[in-house]
Amino acid sequence: MQVIHILALLFFAAFIALFYKFLTADGDFTLLSKGTVKREEIQDKVIWITGASRGIGEILAKQLATLGAKLIISARNEAELERVKKQLVGKHAPDKVMILPLDLTSGEDKLREAVQKAESFFDGAGVDYMIHNAAFERPKTTALDVPEHSLKATFDVNILGPISLTRILAPYMLKRGRGHFVVMSSAAGKTPAPGQAVYSASKFAVNGYFHTLRSELNRKGIKVTVVCPGPIKTPSTPEVSTSSEKGSAERRVSSERCAELTIIAASHGLKEAWISYQPVLAVMYLVQYMPTIGFWLMDKIGAKRVEAAAKQGNTYSLSLLFGKKKDQ
Ligand SMILES: NC(=O)c1ccc[n+]([C@@H]2O[C@H](COP(=O)([O-])OP(=O)(O)OC[C@H]3O[C@@H](n4cnc5c(N)ncnc54)[C@H](OP(=O)(O)O)[C@@H]3O)[C@@H](O)[C@H]2O)c1
Repeated sequence: MQVIHILALLFFAAFIALFYKFLTADGDFTLLSKGTVKREEIQDKVIWITGASRGIGEILAKQLATLGAKLIISARNEAELERVKKQLVGKHAPDKVMILPLDLTSGEDKLREAVQKAESFFDGAGVDYMIHNAAFERPKTTALDVPEHSLKATFDVNILGPISLTRILAPYMLKRGRGHFVVMSSAAGKTPAPGQAVYSASKFAVNGYFHTLRSELNRKGIKVTVVCPGPIKTPSTPEVSTSSEKGSAERRVSSERCAELTIIAASHGLKEAWISYQPVLAVMYLVQYMPTIGFWLMDKIGAKRVEAAAKQGNTYSLSLLFGKKKDQ
């Protein structure tokens, strides 16, 4: 009898420890179990990052440079790329960092030119990792209010550009028998994202394309890591007003931690990685493993989240679920 009590106690303690770990996690359990970056998978590898002129892309460039990668950095704003380059430190940085200005919406001919240049850098070593990180800025609106130009821009930058670039680059990788696409998707590519319908649609499309690409090409040496961050703190993150929800500013993972976890996921060859604090992480698990409950939950908070976004309030607050009183 006593043995059963001890076992029950141990089981309960393990459950509490696991639950605490889940409450305080900033990524999914598989990702966190990997611990640290596999440096040998990054050092001396040619890594091409889009959207490297600011935000998460800039921090990715900094961390990858420190790990000894040979970097190609892209975005439209060349001056900003120069600024980023100057700050990079590492075995091949800043001097050997290649700046490759690129507009993802410029059409296949321009993208082909960019790929040819990227392949020719570093004595024609070829691109080992393509990090599709660039994205169109995403002001929050309701699903019915999205203006046509915003709809087109979102899809052009977030999905059509990356697909075209991939279709042009992948044959080079296939010839070498290796290559790795790391794709910055979003939690909005895994769950409904009230107030961000078109952004969410573009990220679901990203997930669909790149998971399928991997299923077709992984036997030929092509890897794909789809990264799905929740709210991340970048210099351009708008300050959230706390006037309507005292003390409940949005809790965001830092860009540094997001970049670190992204590199851990890529270096361990993970197929998908989630990066977020609670409650977004829990919602991702719910929608993935218990979709009926997950979608019911999202239906409950959807309209309130759109309202919170309009008031620049906390769009990730638990109070959206528990029906806090509306402001007068
Ligand atoms: N921040 C978050 O909370 C969050 C959460 C989940 C997922 N994500 C994803 O993480 C990635 C990075 O997010 P972020 O917040 O760091 O983005 P960001 O600060 O808005 O930066 C976007 C980057 O994309 C580039 N870009 C925009 N339009 C482009 C175009 N037409 N052609 C080429 N480059 C273009 C921008 O450079 P130029 O303007 O110079 O071209 C910039 O470097 C995105 O894929 C985003 O969807 C972010």
